[in-house]
Amino acid sequence: MKRYLMTPGPTPVAPETQLAMAQPVLHHRSPQFMEVLARVREDLKYLFQTEQEVLMFAATGTGAMEGAVANTLSPGDTALVVDGGKFGERWAEICQTYGITVDRLQVEWGRAVKPEEVEQRLKNNPAIKAVLVQANETSTAVQHPVKELAAITAARPGTILVVDAISALGGYPLPMDEWGLDVVVAGSQKALMLPPGLAFVALSPKAWEFVQTSTCPKYYFDFAKQLKSQQKNQTAYTSAVTLTIPRLVKPRCKPWGSSCFPKTIPPKCLPRWRPRPV
Ligand SMILES: Cc1ncc(COP(=O)(O)O)c(C=O)c1O
Repeated sequence: MKRYLMTPGPTPVAPETQLAMAQPVLHHRSPQFMEVLARVREDLKYLFQTEQEVLMFAATGTGAMEGAVANTLSPGDTALVVDGGKFGERWAEICQTYGITVDRLQVEWGRAVKPEEVEQRLKNNPAIKAVLVQANETSTAVQHPVKELAAITAARPGTILVVDAISALGGYPLPMDEWGLDVVVAGSQKALMLPPGLAFVALSPKAWEFVQTSTCPKYYFDFAKQLKSQQKNQTAYTSAVTLTIPRLVKPRCKPWGSSCFPKTIPPKCLPRWRPRPV
């Protein structure tokens, strides 16, 4: 009998996916695996609805959250953290670990942040370099209005919007480029219906400019290094080959394009991730 635990994730892994993962482990520098990675890179761009490279790390989502902070900010910078639950708290903890001053916008648990509140904080403190928020704050099941927040940060050349979409991406539309989200973080074990162990992060051209000046220490989660490797269809260090093999397949109906989602999501448009033999 199958046992289901009704949590946001890890979500159930389809039998086809499990079978795909039973294939022999490819060497991560082999031409066969590079071919897999080339296809996965394209699929990830589709998933994030971005023209930018989506970086892929063997880690859980928190690794990519940490990397997002360490690669775009510097010790002494100020970040505005929307703290409306457990994962908002995590943004603040990561920033503090890297010597970043946290301006905490406390939001009552169970409520979404109001864009005007964020705008007011940014007016009060023009030095704020990043606004960090959850698309979906899993601990309260609240969606923060990231589209509206992006419209605010887009008007400020010195401020980026960093979105933790770990429990959101693939669950509902978050078109990164269309909305102007600067950094989007996701993980394999939620709407993608893969096992835990892959973390994803994509950066807008504006966020990549912040990477140029960031002085936080980083080694494994060095985004520039990973970008260079991925452009050669490799990862900087050993790839999580087994988790990468169940190549994500585009759903039949175009999701994530706003035109596909007028107000409600037609069930046939919900993403269906199926592995395809590689
Ligand atoms: C919104 C959000 N952020 C961060 C995390 C942490 O992700 P991970 O456990 O993959 O590190 C989770 C996990 O549930 C989450 O839902």
